[in-house]
Amino acid sequence: MKRYLPLALILGISLSASAQDKKIEKKIDSVLKLMTLDEKIGQLNQYTGDRDATGPITNNPNKLKDIRDGKLGSMLNVRGAKETREVQEVAMQSRMKIPLIFGLDVIHGYRVTFPIPLAEAASWDLAEIENGARVAARETAASGVHWTFAPMVDIARDPRWGRVMEGAGEDTYLGSKIAFARVKGFQGKGLGNLDAVMACAKHFAAYGAAIAGRDYNAVDMSEHTLWETYLPPFKAAVDAGAATFMNSFNTLNGIPATGSRYLQRDILKGQWKYQGFVVSDWGSIGEMIAHGYAKDKEQAAELAIKAGSDMDMESRSYLPGLAKLVADKKVPIALIDDAVRRVLRKKFELGLFDDPYRFSDVARQEKEINSAENRKASLTMAEKSIVLLKNEKEILPLSKNLKKIAVIGPLGKSEKDMQGFWSIAWEKDNLISLYQGLKNKVGNQTELLYAKGCELADSSKAGFAEAVAVAKQADVVVMAVGEAFDMSGEAKSRANIHIPGVQEDLIKAIQATGKPVVVLVMAGRPLIFNWTADNVSAIMYTWWLGSEAGNAMANVLYGNYNPSGKLPMTFPRDEGQIPLYYNYLSTGRPAKNDKDTRYRSAYLDMPNSPKFAFGYGLSYTTFDYTDLAVSKTQIKPDEKITVSFTLKNTGKYAGEEVVQLYLQDKFASVVRPVKELKDFQKVMLKAGESKTITFTIDKEKLSFYNQQLKWGAEAGDFKLMIGTASNNIKLEKDFTLL
Ligand code: BGC
Repeated sequence: MKRYLPLALILGISLSASAQDKKIEKKIDSVLKLMTLDEKIGQLNQYTGDRDATGPITNNPNKLKDIRDGKLGSMLNVRGAKETREVQEVAMQSRMKIPLIFGLDVIHGYRVTFPIPLAEAASWDLAEIENGARVAARETAASGVHWTFAPMVDIARDPRWGRVMEGAGEDTYLGSKIAFARVKGFQGKGLGNLDAVMACAKHFAAYGAAIAGRDYNAVDMSEHTLWETYLPPFKAAVDAGAATFMNSFNTLNGIPATGSRYLQRDILKGQWKYQGFVVSDWGSIGEMIAHGYAKDKEQAAELAIKAGSDMDMESRSYLPGLAKLVADKKVPIALIDDAVRRVLRKKFELGLFDDPYRFSDVARQEKEINSAENRKASLTMAEKSIVLLKNEKEILPLSKNLKKIAVIGPLGKSEKDMQGFWSIAWEKDNLISLYQGLKNKVGNQTELLYAKGCELADSSKAGFAEAVAVAKQADVVVMAVGEAFDMSGEAKSRANIHIPGVQEDLIKAIQATGKPVVVLVMAGRPLIFNWTADNVSAIMYTWWLGSEAGNAMANVLYGNYNPSGKLPMTFPRDEGQIPLYYNYLSTGRPAKNDKDTRYRSAYLDMPNSPKFAFGYGLSYTTFDYTDLAVSKTQIKPDEKITVSFTLKNTGKYAGEEVVQLYLQDKFASVVRPVKELKDFQKVMLKAGESKTITFTIDKEKLSFYNQQLKWGAEAGDFKLMIGTASNNIKLEKDFTLL
């Protein structure tokens, strides 16, 4: 009998889960019955609790009155166990005593800052990414906040768009896996646990494809690209149980996403049967007027609620608009009820009806926030996020016997920039700059010199002479260049994504000293630095790494952690190549710039290829890929191919390799990309060690959306490619789907 126990248990759990669901639905019914129309609309209304001219929210009589009058369902930007309790107490004075949900942009850590999401994506380490979200959730929940507006799961192929820092990069497969991991991390064992916060998959949809990389810009996209490239990470978030969705500022093919029934009702709530609620982006309901889609706020409210936007973030269109729309019979009450049910459901699931203050516990806040364990998690994540782009002449890892190291560059002592754009609750204590991290590492053994050299973005070279003089005294120079924290992020699009200011000139001046130079690029997006890439022997891309940035960089520089990151986005040679991504479609013309073919799909003035490709990243060790074996070269649709090969660490150091499986459907009814990532594994090997790595290819991996937008695989020839980067394939083999 024993062996049936787990099944019985599983059944027990699912039965009790649905019994729980039914109980909640009944409770929602009973609450809904007691509510006036105005109170219902109140649940769909969200204000910011930001400090404003009158001070914190608790000093704002108008907002407090609205809460007391039951006109608010949620508030963003209130945080802290004490502060959230104070505001919740006001909600408890309302007639229905429905608790507020507090939401906040916890994008890469709360009190302990984690690497920016794009950096975390470079780790390709799903367990670590999930853990990062877990830590953030624990700190957030302990601060009285129930809801994070993350993860951002927008695919982004344009590094001019400042919000690339906030997502997982350009690839749909990697992005979907990361979306799933982050939602799981935030929501932990499920809503209702005191260490879980509601996730919010955003921005639905296609926000990352803003024309010309300009934030908030229009998006014009084929249905095919929408379904195949941009929607899957959102579907992955649904599958992971994301409690909420946020719609987006952009128009998609002429329709504002906020007012798009197609996106919200047909796809999300229809086809995907989504039970959570959708919050608008900040003011996006009202912005439909500026788009030229709604003539006033009332019409904007009508369009948004009908389209499936449940909660109005800060546009003040639902209140007062919806009441009149219902009275005028333009909006059926059933639509309002459905939206309110969705919001109340989450309040029940969070346990707020049982105890509205359960997350606002000062003692727990003290314990959870900024713990040594949380900082350790941030450090591990930061080490794994670093990408080694170049390491010639074995400059790295640094020798323990160096007498003097010069830290040079405008970010060498920066703490704030390391926190990144969306850091939310960090405090000034114990932030680790590169300089401090090196100091922590070398103690008194190695002397650390420092010169700033120049500012991040101005044109003065006045500091160059001092920097050169300092470099000349050192055995090795470590340069810290890149972007300030507010050069990538929301509304931080840049048409010029070269390393800003005179920083690359500073690199040239230091390189001219003849000293060994290591350049660390700290930024929120792929930058362009061709001279450096061609001339400097050692380069690491460190992004913005958070609270433990300097310790992580020092650990990697000294080889205490062997870098294993791989680029989640293509690095172009020039802005003129953008958008540039690895999974492009072949043209009918050659892409090579050779003199014999005049009519080619190539630039006259530079190669088509990127400077650094998607999936690229080095290690201090080297890996060999050999002995590819496939179980079959012909399969029927219900069969699978097992692919295996030997991965060997052929270098001197233990290290991790991210092995990448790409597939190409050679001929199909819709032209397929030259290659698409379909699987990967992160494998740890000791020096000299070998392992057999196995992937399975099934019909799902061979499927795509056909001309009728139906998902499926077509019979024909395929190519499998296994490599260390999208442009460095080590093993390949053809096979056929019968
Ligand atoms: C951003 C969202 C964010 C919201 C609330 C908006 O401007 O687009 O991503 O969650 O503000 O801060």
